[in-house]
Amino acid sequence: MYSEKIAGQFLSSRVRDIRPSGIRAFFEINNVGGDTISLGVGEPDFVTPEKVREACIQALRDGKTKYTSNKGLMELREELSAYYASSFAVTYDPEQEIIVTVGSSEAVDLALRAVINPGDEVLIPAPSYIAYEPITHLHGGNIVEVEAKDEEQFKLTPQALQAAITPHSKVLMINYPCNPTGTVMTEQDWLPIVELIIQHNLVVISDEVYAELTFGRKHVSIAALPGMRERTIVISGFSKAFAMTGWRVGYACGPGELIAGMLKIHQYTAMCAPTIAQIAALESLRYGMTAKDEMIASYNERRKLFVAGLNAIGLACHEPEGAFYAFPSIASTGMSSEQFALRLLKEAKVGVVPGHVFGSGGEGFIRCSYAASLVDLEKVLERMARFMQVTQLV
Ligand SMILES: Cc1ncc(COP(=O)(O)O)c(C=O)c1O
Repeated sequence: MYSEKIAGQFLSSRVRDIRPSGIRAFFEINNVGGDTISLGVGEPDFVTPEKVREACIQALRDGKTKYTSNKGLMELREELSAYYASSFAVTYDPEQEIIVTVGSSEAVDLALRAVINPGDEVLIPAPSYIAYEPITHLHGGNIVEVEAKDEEQFKLTPQALQAAITPHSKVLMINYPCNPTGTVMTEQDWLPIVELIIQHNLVVISDEVYAELTFGRKHVSIAALPGMRERTIVISGFSKAFAMTGWRVGYACGPGELIAGMLKIHQYTAMCAPTIAQIAALESLRYGMTAKDEMIASYNERRKLFVAGLNAIGLACHEPEGAFYAFPSIASTGMSSEQFALRLLKEAKVGVVPGHVFGSGGEGFIRCSYAASLVDLEKVLERMARFMQVTQLV
C-alpha cells in the first residue's frame, strides 16, 4: 500500500486543475453492458475495412517494425498532399508542410503548444469538442468561448467572434463539421469571419477530422479561402471517415514554419506515429475510398431516420449536416442535461452525453452519436419516446 496523499502533492497545478473528461465519465457509466444501448462515444461502429487490415498484416510479415521519419512516411505525406488538393482545394508540400501524428489528438496538442505563449487567448466557438479547453490550459493559454446558438444552427457568426476578440486574442480554434453539433460552415458563412481573422491577425487551427462526413454539401476548408493558407494549421485524421480510431493516425498541414515548430515537439514526445498504422492509413487513401463512401452513405441513412425520430417525439433537433452527431434540445422536459442523461440511462437504458460537458451553450442539449446500427437506433427512439411520455406525465 502507498499513501495517495504523498503521491498527489507532486501533480502540477495545471494538471490538477483539469477536470476529467465528461464524455469518458459517461462512457464508464454507459459501459454497464446488458441491454443498455450507448450513443455516448463518437466512434464508427464499422470495423476498419479488410483490405486495410490486410495491408497492416502484410507490413508486419515484411518486418516493417522500425521508426519512420519523424514527419511520417514520405509516401503517406505525398498521398495526403494529393488527397487534400483534390478533395479540399489546398495544396501542401509533403516535405515541408505536412506532419503525420498520433491521431488528430496529437496534432491538436502540437498545434496549440506550438503557437500559445502564456496568457494568449484562444477563441473557441462553444459548444465545442472537449479536448481544446484542457490542452489550451496545459500550455498556459486562456480560453475565450465564442457563443454559437441553436437558432443559428450553432454556426460561428462574425458578430459573436467580434464580441469575443480582445487585444490578447491570438488563436481561433475551429472544428467544422462540428462535434457535438453536426454544424457545417459554408463559404458564405466564412467570408466575413475571414475578414475579422485577418484584421485581428489571428492564427487559425482548423480541426477537420469530420471533413469527409458531410451530407449534401461539401466541406469548405478555411485554409482554401483567400489570405488564410498562411495563417491556418489544418488538422485531420483517419479515425472517423476511415473507421480507424484504434490505429492512431492523424496529420497536420500548414505553413512550413508552423509545421517545423510542431515537429520540434513531436520528435521529442512521439518520435513518429506507429509505422504499421501509417502503412494501413496509406492503404486507406489509395484503395479505401469506395469503402469510406459506403460508410458515409450508411451514416446518412441513419442520420435521416434518427433526426426525424427525435423531432417526432418532441426533442427538437436542427438538421446536422456533418459528423455523426445529433444535438437535440431537451428544454421541453424542464430537466438539466445531466438529469436527463442520467434518468435516460437508468430508466430507458439509453446512453447519451449531456450537453454541458461541451462548454457554455451546451446546457439544455444532449449529444447522441448515430454511428450505431439502424436496429439499435430504432430501439433507442422507441425507448426515448416512452421515456418522454413518462416524464411528461409526472
Ligand atoms: C473534433 C475532434 N477532433 C479530434 C478527435 C480525436 O480524433 P483522433 O482519433 O484522430 O485522435 C475527435 C474524436 O472524437 C474529435 O471529435
